[in-house]
Amino acid sequence: MKMVFATGNAHKLHEAGEILSDLCELVMPSALGLTEDIPETGETLEENSLQKARYLYDKLKTDCFADDTGLEVEALGGAPGVYSARYAGEAKDSGANMDKLLRELQALGPGASRRARFRTVITLVKDGCLYQFEGEMKGSIANSRSGSEGFGYDPIFIADEYPDRTVAQLDEHTKNSISHRGRALRRMAAWLKTQNG
Ligand code: IMP
Repeated sequence: MKMVFATGNAHKLHEAGEILSDLCELVMPSALGLTEDIPETGETLEENSLQKARYLYDKLKTDCFADDTGLEVEALGGAPGVYSARYAGEAKDSGANMDKLLRELQALGPGASRRARFRTVITLVKDGCLYQFEGEMKGSIANSRSGSEGFGYDPIFIADEYPDRTVAQLDEHTKNSISHRGRALRRMAAWLKTQNG
């Protein structure tokens, strides 16, 4: 069975492909000729992943899913949240996003909580019906960047499971075993298995 994943990111496709390997073959929208940007104008992760999955289904009429992820920092009232990719501007520059987050936390003073979590919401369209799955990775924001693995905010995020290093200092397999997206994907995989009998 083929399933379309609303991403243009080969790293994400690979990660999801490994988790779903005995259930389906994953393809990018571009493999089915859909190369346009998928709209993402919601105000929550739930709305955005739903919007992306619905858009794909309307265009391709095939089973598909979309994910949306945000980094929620307690002392910043859950920011950057759904705006994580564009936190420091439309350029979606990870370095600038991390610098802004560290500045905002520093401005709150040394006593401010650095607790945070990544949250992923996946919307699946299967046989025309919609389902959502969530995953989170809890942790805290480091004082400065360390490590070069992963992407996005990984160099400043310390997961509770590995408190002596940032996620950018974990190998890919270790990160996937605790990550928000890995957890959401495994929940979806477990549900799909129940559907396959
Ligand atoms: P997206 O919904 O996967 O595009 O994620 C939104 C933003 O959250 C991205 O631009 C990244 O900056 C950040 N992000 C998502 N997943 C991760 C992760 O696993 N590690 C670090 N940052 C992430």
